[in-house]
Amino acid sequence: MKGRLILVSNRGPYVFLESAAGEEMVRSVGGLVAALEPLMEANGGVWVAWGGRRGHASPAPSRRRKVASAEGGSHYVLRETVLTEEELRCYYYGFANSALWPLCHYFVGRCQFEQEHWDNYVRVNAKFAASAQAELSQGDLIWIHDYHLALVPELLRRAHPELRIAFFWHIPFPQVDVLAVLPWAREVLAGLLGSDVLGFHLREYGENFLTCAEKLLGAEVDRERMCASWRGRTVRVRAAPIGVDYQAFQRLARRPRVQARAAEIRRQLGTPLVALSADRLDYTKGILERILALEILLERYPEYRGRLTFVQVAAPSRTALAEYQKMRRQIEEAVGRVNGRFGSDDYTPVRYYYRSLGREELAAYYQAADVAVITPLRDGLNLVAKEYVAARLDDEGVLVLSRFAGAASQLSGAILVNPYNPLETAEKWAEACALPPEERRARMAALRENVRRYDLQWWLEEFWKAMAEGGAPADEEEEALPGRCCGEEEAADRATGGSC
Ligand code: G6P
Repeated sequence: MKGRLILVSNRGPYVFLESAAGEEMVRSVGGLVAALEPLMEANGGVWVAWGGRRGHASPAPSRRRKVASAEGGSHYVLRETVLTEEELRCYYYGFANSALWPLCHYFVGRCQFEQEHWDNYVRVNAKFAASAQAELSQGDLIWIHDYHLALVPELLRRAHPELRIAFFWHIPFPQVDVLAVLPWAREVLAGLLGSDVLGFHLREYGENFLTCAEKLLGAEVDRERMCASWRGRTVRVRAAPIGVDYQAFQRLARRPRVQARAAEIRRQLGTPLVALSADRLDYTKGILERILALEILLERYPEYRGRLTFVQVAAPSRTALAEYQKMRRQIEEAVGRVNGRFGSDDYTPVRYYYRSLGREELAAYYQAADVAVITPLRDGLNLVAKEYVAARLDDEGVLVLSRFAGAASQLSGAILVNPYNPLETAEKWAEACALPPEERRARMAALRENVRRYDLQWWLEEFWKAMAEGGAPADEEEEALPGRCCGEEEAADRATGGSC
């Protein structure tokens, strides 16, 4: 690649906490950072991001620092965009997380549409675009990420018509009837169409985008070649689900410290069966519904009482929002109820941790878990499901996965459930606990093959290829991911699509 990579995302690799003692850098949580940090560590470049810093009363200048890779690779520059209190409230908590986030996850009833939120979204997008422009040199490639920054491509395009701009949308892209509810849908679509290449996890999301661009904006679209023409430019839509760094997880899992910790976790939990989920505490993740499913499981299958522990790790997220506070209370009440009903002096059915875990600790939990129960109500992809597979050294372990997680169309060895139906989840969870060894191993081998093959490196190569092809249509065969191949799921399966 000629030129540097300039990555632009709302969330950066660190959250900066300020106190009288000075500044503390804490690692961010979430799929986006997990995927992009290894890229920056390996290739260098510039990362423009908000540092998670609490808002300032008046706009502070952006900060710039060098970040060295943990494993001694290259370093990259982190350019921190600092937000004011009002911008944080209206742009981040407001438009991004109280309008676009619920809407794209089909929680239309939770959406709040406020003019001042939108005005700040416009202002902050311009701020990020200006930060990126300040870093720009001849030949650089800009890669913008996620729903916080939908207007940045168009803003940069106006200033630099020849600039190479890619965008990756990490969450579901909704169907046209849903996006149409957003009062500023046209502006969001036009903003995204400033890119040369627009990436989504699934072909289905890319198709939704094309339909929205056509119906709500009047763009000309070609579904077969997956592209849209708008204002004299062609924008290519690519679908490639993010992968995890499989080899890095395997190396982590082999560390004697991790293995010893996994054994210790099992010993401490003290039951022959361990189930696990790790999520940000978010209403889209289905944590409450999962606890309900466990309650049903323990009710219907008394033989699991005293024999099955469920570990729920819930990482604090967007804690200033009332929706998230309420969800936390409901989850904690449900955990208390299940433990009160089925627990005893030496048995705690649910171990609930309201914190985020470091990579090693998480890898130890993945190894300690016989079953991972990853059941979001809606999820763009879900990297935890892939991490669980990548962190296992044997073909043991069963993945119970929501059919509404993007990863479900790819991970054919998983047991799929409808998370809105706790009865079904309970039944499938019980089935997972009692799966015959041959079936368990066959499923995990299939999962492992998929996660190993379609890893982070594969995803990055898909991106470089798409950028090299630029916005102009090219004829090439579409490769289908190995996965589920029947009925409706087939469309979502063809996740590496995008032939124009
Ligand atoms: C999802 C989004 C990311 C976001 C992450 C954590 O994975 O797609 O863009 O960074 O959640 O959320 P937060 O609000 O803490 O950045």
